[in-house]
Amino acid sequence: MEATKSMIIDSIFENLDIKNLPSSCTSNTIKIADFGCSVGPNTFLAIQCIIEAIHLKLEKTLHDDQNPKKALEFQVFFNDQNDNDFNTLFTTLPTPKDYFAAGVPGSFHSRIFPTATLHIAHSSCALNWLSRVPKAVVDKKSPIWNKGRVHYTGNVKVLEAYSDQFKRDMEVFFKARAQEIVGGGLMLLLVPGCEDGVLPCDTLVSMQFELFGSCLMDMVKMVRTKK
Ligand SMILES: C[S@@+](CC[C@H](N)C(=O)[O-])C[C@H]1O[C@@H](n2cnc3c(N)ncnc32)[C@H](O)[C@@H]1O
Repeated sequence: MEATKSMIIDSIFENLDIKNLPSSCTSNTIKIADFGCSVGPNTFLAIQCIIEAIHLKLEKTLHDDQNPKKALEFQVFFNDQNDNDFNTLFTTLPTPKDYFAAGVPGSFHSRIFPTATLHIAHSSCALNWLSRVPKAVVDKKSPIWNKGRVHYTGNVKVLEAYSDQFKRDMEVFFKARAQEIVGGGLMLLLVPGCEDGVLPCDTLVSMQFELFGSCLMDMVKMVRTKK
């Protein structure tokens, strides 16, 4: 989160037209949602960063235009899957905090907010979680069956299957958010990836997952041998 702070601040400064956001003109409430928030503390840091950036931008705008100061209020919606540990999230909410907090359970691969109600949609390291394992990868008859592996990035066809699923999921995500975010609103999406030309199997994180995967498979084998 520390590493992405400047990206969030720059993005809000460059792209958010606070004065012309539709609902904020009437209610003075900026509504922010964090999609795939988990239990914190990253989500709290991200939200704080967003709110501070908006305050800074507003100060700058007011200074430039000499407008009377508007007392902004913030409402923050913490979203994650239904089985997320929202209790831990709520009991560790920062105090004091300068926003109203609410939990919103449900998959971000569907509509979870009413039409045109959000000003900022944030998501960090969550969109890479797919809605399902691609069918072909778990079908024993398929040429790209992953042979029971937990993590596998060494086969281009397997990569393509995941990539196709990612494209489908992102389309669903964007369609839902397009209806939920007000015109002039902003999406801040942080998605882990690798540089063009670098194969995922050559990245450190992939090697770590490969290792975790093989450990898990060994543990399963050990249990089976004992039985
Ligand atoms: C790696 S954590 C990221 C947490 C936090 N945003 C951060 O940056 O540290 C990914 C989170 O996304 C959530 N997630 C995955 N798929 C989701 C979905 N379809 N809808 C909502 N949340 C989802 C997971 O439950 C998990 O809590």
